[in-house]
Amino acid sequence: MIDLHCHLPVHLSDGPKDFGTAVRMLEQMAASGVRHVVAVSHFDPKLEDRLDSAVAALQPEAERCGITLDAAFEYDFSQISTGLKLRTLSPQSRYLLVDFCCYQLPFSARDMLESLEREGYHVIFVHPERLFSPSKLPDLEKLHQLGACFQINAISLLPEASAPVRRMARAMLRRGLVDVVASDAHRDTGRRRPCMGEAFAWLARKYTQKKADLLCQVNPQRLLENKPPLPILPAPLPWERALQWFCRFLPSRER
Ligand SMILES: [Fe+2]
Repeated sequence: MIDLHCHLPVHLSDGPKDFGTAVRMLEQMAASGVRHVVAVSHFDPKLEDRLDSAVAALQPEAERCGITLDAAFEYDFSQISTGLKLRTLSPQSRYLLVDFCCYQLPFSARDMLESLEREGYHVIFVHPERLFSPSKLPDLEKLHQLGACFQINAISLLPEASAPVRRMARAMLRRGLVDVVASDAHRDTGRRRPCMGEAFAWLARKYTQKKADLLCQVNPQRLLENKPPLPILPAPLPWERALQWFCRFLPSRER
């Protein structure tokens, strides 16, 4: 698996408070099958050099765990302006992590998306399920049609997430609006722990192994390589599943 959004750099923004915590996070991720991590800090222009040195300090431990590291910023929607040099998921990628950081979908979201596309960047909006209610699904759908990607947090699929967050995450999955699942982990315990393995198991059980692979491995890899994510087909509704099941028993028509 690939985790495109993990707050692993020590002492940067709200990431781990000490080196030992970051090492335990790496070990947990390795044990669950994660092999590539984008180590993320919230954007601050003053952190540009510190991000590189914090990730370099983790490289030996990451190698020991069999994990490849990249470094990126998570941008607050309001921090982005045209002409700014932005830090993407990897040197090859032009995909950016962007957090709306507010509970109302900004009116300028579409304009911002289009101006970033003109500058050659592509946007991954992070954890919309934590910010918005299902009433915003049509607006998210329009942004998705314009090329925006959506990443939900692994924990949002698990029982410990709040009911509204879980409901929104599942509604987005049903509509085919989720391109990637990532941990957004900040520490080694609690709700901000790395839990890609648990989310993968949930997706494989609830949907299919193929869908879990697409969301946790195939699409993250494509975004790192600057390729658009493969579309995730909307899940059939319960009555559609029942109809598919019933149709299996109908005699096939011979020509
Ligand atoms: Fe984050």
